[in-house]
Amino acid sequence: MSAESSKQHKIISERVNRLSPSGIRKFFDLLASMEDVISLGVGEPDYATPWHISEAAVQSLERGYTMYTSNSGIPELREETARCLQQKYNIDYEPYGEILMTVGVSEALDLAMRAILNPGDEVIMPDPHYVAYDSCVILAGGEPVMVPTSQESNFEVDAKDIEARITDKTRAILIGYPANPTGAVMSREKLLAVAKVARRHNLMVISDEIYSRLVYGVEHICFAGLPGVKENTILLGGFSKAYAMTGWRIGYAAAPQEIIRAMTKIHQYTIMSAPTPAQVAALEALKTGEPDVKEMVEDYNRRRMIIVKGLNEIGMPCFEPRGAFYAFPSIAKTGMTSEEFSEKLLMEEKVAVVPGSAFGECGEGYVRCCYATSLADIEEALARMKRFVKKHSK
Ligand SMILES: Cc1ncc(COP(=O)(O)O)c(C=O)c1O
Repeated sequence: MSAESSKQHKIISERVNRLSPSGIRKFFDLLASMEDVISLGVGEPDYATPWHISEAAVQSLERGYTMYTSNSGIPELREETARCLQQKYNIDYEPYGEILMTVGVSEALDLAMRAILNPGDEVIMPDPHYVAYDSCVILAGGEPVMVPTSQESNFEVDAKDIEARITDKTRAILIGYPANPTGAVMSREKLLAVAKVARRHNLMVISDEIYSRLVYGVEHICFAGLPGVKENTILLGGFSKAYAMTGWRIGYAAAPQEIIRAMTKIHQYTIMSAPTPAQVAALEALKTGEPDVKEMVEDYNRRRMIIVKGLNEIGMPCFEPRGAFYAFPSIAKTGMTSEEFSEKLLMEEKVAVVPGSAFGECGEGYVRCCYATSLADIEEALARMKRFVKKHSK
């Protein structure tokens, strides 16, 4: 270790030193220095926020509504969130005590971990998984424990595999379906099996359902709505993906009162309250944004079918993702690692994808392609990838 990095290791906490830099960031930095790149890299909608949602926030600013809100969030927004959860999934959450508005699901995830973990507590999660999952656990003093998933089982996590990893240090299971990076959804049957394991071992389940509205031809099952698990579940939900609101930074957690109280304690000292204009916009989204969601989902679905078919045809086999806006094709034919593949594809064909290894060991051999981009770009990207795979096939 150089003198410089050893000095830095003394200054920076061990927890932070343990985090690896996000594999995604590296590609975005490379991307930023290049022109005419087709990006299937960034995981966000290509839509602007529907104008009536933005307008609600603009009008609230014009009326001078620019102060902090209650730590938990605007009461009407919590009420509307509770109403939507009741209407969609038949789950009752008390808006005054069981719901907390947060700075995106990102904050909710961090709060959930910090609220429930003691040093050394283990959290079981599927591999591959969203990049923040293991880091959040480590930052909260816990230990992430991976459950491998594979294309053969459609990247659904198996309850038996979870149970096999339970030790006396296990505190929670963290799942996120529809999944980033695979687009996998979990069947009711498989979720019920996870619920049974959680109940049997008295474990908390943190269920990140940020992509709940983006499902294609299947029903989204809300984990907290399964029999007997609501008391053990922290449900995380958001606005970023369904309403094209990534930059507004707004999400929520719904959980038993004791847990929300603990999460609110951290939130009030670190955040105070979620951004006020974003809360106003989120309320408008819940009240009147349904037709927008429907339109965007139909559009994503068209793109999904084209990219999945295209990838399979060009020698990048891809299971059918039923949720989110990602395809996760295999690159086995090229014999490259996912980092090599992504870097070479970017340099030779100017197409950006994300290496599967950024999402965990089981992501190796795959790349993540986000299809929340125009059909013309998807088609051009497929043509370029076809040329690339043909040239590099082993
Ligand atoms: C699975 C998953 N959870 C959480 C987040 C963070 O979402 P937010 O914008 O609500 O912080 C993302 C963003 O990409 C995600 O893919």
